[in-house]
Amino acid sequence: MSVKNYFPYFCSQIIKMQTFRQIIDRDPFPIFLAPMESVTDLTFRMICKKMGADILVSEFISSDALIRNVSQSVDKLNFNEEERPIGIQIFGHNESSLIEAAQIAESAAPDFIDINWGCPVKKVVSKGAGSAILKDIPKMVYLTEEVVKHVKLPVTIKTRLGWDHTNKPIVEVVERMQDIGVQGVTIHGRTRSQFYSGTADWSLIGEVMQNPRLQIPVIGNGDIDSGPKAIEYKQRYGVDGIMIGRAAIGNPWIFNHVKKYMGGIPPQTPTLAERIELCLEHLKGMAQNKNEKVALLEMRRHYAGYFRAIPFFKPVKLQLMAAEDIATCETILKKWESQTNKKRS
Ligand SMILES: Cc1cc2nc3c(=O)[nH]c(=O)nc-3n(C[C@H](O)[C@H](O)[C@H](O)COP(=O)(O)O)c2cc1C
Repeated sequence: MSVKNYFPYFCSQIIKMQTFRQIIDRDPFPIFLAPMESVTDLTFRMICKKMGADILVSEFISSDALIRNVSQSVDKLNFNEEERPIGIQIFGHNESSLIEAAQIAESAAPDFIDINWGCPVKKVVSKGAGSAILKDIPKMVYLTEEVVKHVKLPVTIKTRLGWDHTNKPIVEVVERMQDIGVQGVTIHGRTRSQFYSGTADWSLIGEVMQNPRLQIPVIGNGDIDSGPKAIEYKQRYGVDGIMIGRAAIGNPWIFNHVKKYMGGIPPQTPTLAERIELCLEHLKGMAQNKNEKVALLEMRRHYAGYFRAIPFFKPVKLQLMAAEDIATCETILKKWESQTNKKRS
């Protein structure tokens, strides 16, 4: 849906507006696609949805850029109706721009607004946005409450355990967020200083779940890369849902796999033909939604995932990286498929 045509959708959305609890209760155990900048664009989200992701969140959008009407940021508000339920994620550090950006995001009529209080990247943190807020909880409470007060849609937040190993206030943070009307919290089980290193520590997420005052849904995030792990962590930590990020890059089948494991059905590994088909769908979708040049560039980070552990992919990857149009990529992949089939027969 284009933001320009938001009004009828906004009206219908107000009528259908659901709490975040109602949104997540539509699935027995919802699996979220994590917001990932330059990865979870419309094309990739649609593919993940088709592959079983229950709830989607947009890549983060700068509130400062949104209020300045920067077209690249405004474009990120676009989503398809089939993507619902979907959240739009914003980040910022300043009260007025966060409020205005949340209202702009609301006018695109997603199902909820998510505030990013977890990004560890220097250019975000240096301005006091993202995970920097974990060093100033009263400010986090204040800014979040202002957003909650100024929009009608449910507001959720996504954050980390804390700033560093000496500061992990997540149990208090979730309580305080709940008290000001935040309807859900996603916790990435790392501190800011860890970035993506080491392993995610879910024990503190488990402590949040043990808090007798907790009423809002909590989504666990960090290092979920298989169906068995998703089930194990669901049972061990008692979270209301799980969010998957990096393991979905080039591997959107992961959502289906988790679902199948949960239903006790052993999932099947995708064949080379299925991988090629989905990879090409992704590439062509991106070219349509952005443009061919950007698609060829951005797909580079997905190829390794699509063809992980497939023999003889290395030379194919080099050819894909050098390809200057999508037709060439298609020829490369189809040729590889037929050569592989010949070797097998
Ligand atoms: C390339 C990339 C971009 C990301 N962009 C965002 C973002 O825009 N917003 C956000 O909240 N988290 C972002 N993250 C963090 C992920 O949402 C997630 O919390 C993190 O990757 C841990 O989950 P995982 O182990 O399942 O990947 C990003 C992560 C990666 C790898």
